[in-house]
Amino acid sequence: MRIGVLTGGGDCPGLNAVIRAIVRKGSEVYGHDFVGFHDGWKGPLENDTLTLDVATTRGILPRGGTILGSSRTNPIKVEGGVERIEKNLKTLGVDGLIAIGGEDTLGVATALAGHGLNVVGVPKTIDNDLNATDYTFGFDTAVQIAVDAIDRLHTTAESHHRVLIVEVMGRHAGWIALHSGLAGGANVILIPERPFDIAEVCTYIEKRFARHYAPIVVVAEGATPKEGTMALQQGDLDAFGHVRLGGIGQVLEQEIQARTGFESRQTVLGHVQRGGTPTAFDRVLATRFGLHAIDALHDGDSGVMVALRGTDIVRVPLSEATAELKLVPLERYEEVEVFFG
Ligand code: F6P
Repeated sequence: MRIGVLTGGGDCPGLNAVIRAIVRKGSEVYGHDFVGFHDGWKGPLENDTLTLDVATTRGILPRGGTILGSSRTNPIKVEGGVERIEKNLKTLGVDGLIAIGGEDTLGVATALAGHGLNVVGVPKTIDNDLNATDYTFGFDTAVQIAVDAIDRLHTTAESHHRVLIVEVMGRHAGWIALHSGLAGGANVILIPERPFDIAEVCTYIEKRFARHYAPIVVVAEGATPKEGTMALQQGDLDAFGHVRLGGIGQVLEQEIQARTGFESRQTVLGHVQRGGTPTAFDRVLATRFGLHAIDALHDGDSGVMVALRGTDIVRVPLSEATAELKLVPLERYEEVEVFFG
């Protein structure tokens, strides 16, 4: 078989570990050969390829980012895009494709599988919000990076008697905020699933100062206030129609300082959470996903995504995996509220 591999959407620590595992097992166990596509769906759309073999994937296991490059190109939004991809794959002799991506990239993979293309998906996102898998690789690394930052912010918050607000990624789901806030001992955690009450947040802050400690607020970038309680700005849209976020930390900084009188400062972790070397957990998960993805394609099992269930890697229909996002259940959030304030 000739197999195409692409990585789409926001990059994520562990992508190279997946690519390496696919190529290593695919070449050495099954005797398949590979075509790498540059920059997500832009690669097959524009016939932009690179050599992908055991030699070109050597030494990439601990490297962050993706050797293939990534983009948020959505071929479904491009006139004749799907047909162009089909034609290009045919010309290249590619008879199977492994798409490594999140909700958007796998949504396109689902549509292409519907057109009869042999395609297997690998779930990727630091946000951990893909349904049908217990964890996505990259999440553990992002949480660890955020926890390291929170640990450091505690000591400077104490020295200056300040409120420190840490804005982490999480557009629709607050998994990074929840886990890093819990592991980092935050005094308030704000997530998109549960609109917050700014008056309640300020009460937690005052309570914390009353105990002679400085509060740390961890907020997911997609967190929003309860309707009508605070104004927010809107950003630009990307090709998949998502608003470019960022800004809730700054809004909170001003609002908390104005309401409580305590000096407040925000830290936006941003793309630091997606960069650099993956944790051992993510390297193992990414490698196992890669090994199982090539097995699935080799077996002719198209239209599936590999997923972690407990400690097993299973295959689930791509359509099921991309149907809805995995949000933080309210009871999981309420579990940690005992630490607020
Ligand atoms: O989808 C993963 C993610 O990390 C989101 O949490 C975040 O909103 C988005 O990517 C930002 O990505 P970019 O700035 O690369 O568009």
